[in-house]
Amino acid sequence: MDKKIIAANWKENPKSRAAALKLFEASARAAKAAEGIAMVVCPPSIFLEDISRAFARLQIPSSRLALGAQDAFWEEGGPFTGNVGPKMLKSLGIKYVIVGHSERRKWLHETDPMINRKIVRAMGDGLKVILCVGEPPEVRKKGFSAAKRFIKGQLKKDLQGVFGATARNDIIVAYEPIWAIGSGKNDNPRDAAEIAAFIKETVRAAFQRAKLTVKVLYGGSVNGKNAADYVQLDVIDGALVGGASLKAGEFNRLTQSIRMKK
Ligand code: PGA
Repeated sequence: MDKKIIAANWKENPKSRAAALKLFEASARAAKAAEGIAMVVCPPSIFLEDISRAFARLQIPSSRLALGAQDAFWEEGGPFTGNVGPKMLKSLGIKYVIVGHSERRKWLHETDPMINRKIVRAMGDGLKVILCVGEPPEVRKKGFSAAKRFIKGQLKKDLQGVFGATARNDIIVAYEPIWAIGSGKNDNPRDAAEIAAFIKETVRAAFQRAKLTVKVLYGGSVNGKNAADYVQLDVIDGALVGGASLKAGEFNRLTQSIRMKK
């Protein structure tokens, strides 16, 4: 069985280079100590160069720890002020990229067609994509079927043509119900598992590629106490962790809890 993926999404944190390096070193120690997981640390892109140097120095096997970015633009270079392209990330040894996080959809008005272009480019350039999907509270209030319909719509638009445009046969989808992010109201693991199965079925049915691997992470108020409840389920391949990945002690507890349940 594949290792469970624990992806740390630092968002716009921490505020300094020194604090970022310190947090990375603590996360790397946690990755080294935890057997059953593949950790992906996703710092702000400004810190990636220093962190990739620290990563090389610490000599942690790539099966235990990899670096990811929180976004990548759909053009490789040119007059696109403020953007960073997948090739630039790859040149620093970055392996993963988060695309379509609900905070970018909200604050930067990223649309499904924009997300789709980013996925095509990032996968084409060899990054592993963690695509974030998830329903807002008003949709979940209408019921579970409404949530599924919403997620299916996102998947269809975000992944349209992706597997035709690239040679890749794998995708990681993070199911993050928007109401669960940063709220302390994590989804019920059984419901998250049902949605994870639904995401796998939907992607496989839409793309019908014999070799397609779809992994699903759960995200939204995952912490040291509840992570194992999700990650121990067969259908859930790991977790995308925000707030708890910023506290070294909590993140270490989280990774250890998964090892102990294995
Ligand atoms: P959270 O964030 O763990 O702080 O809820 C998760 C995410 O937004 O990826």
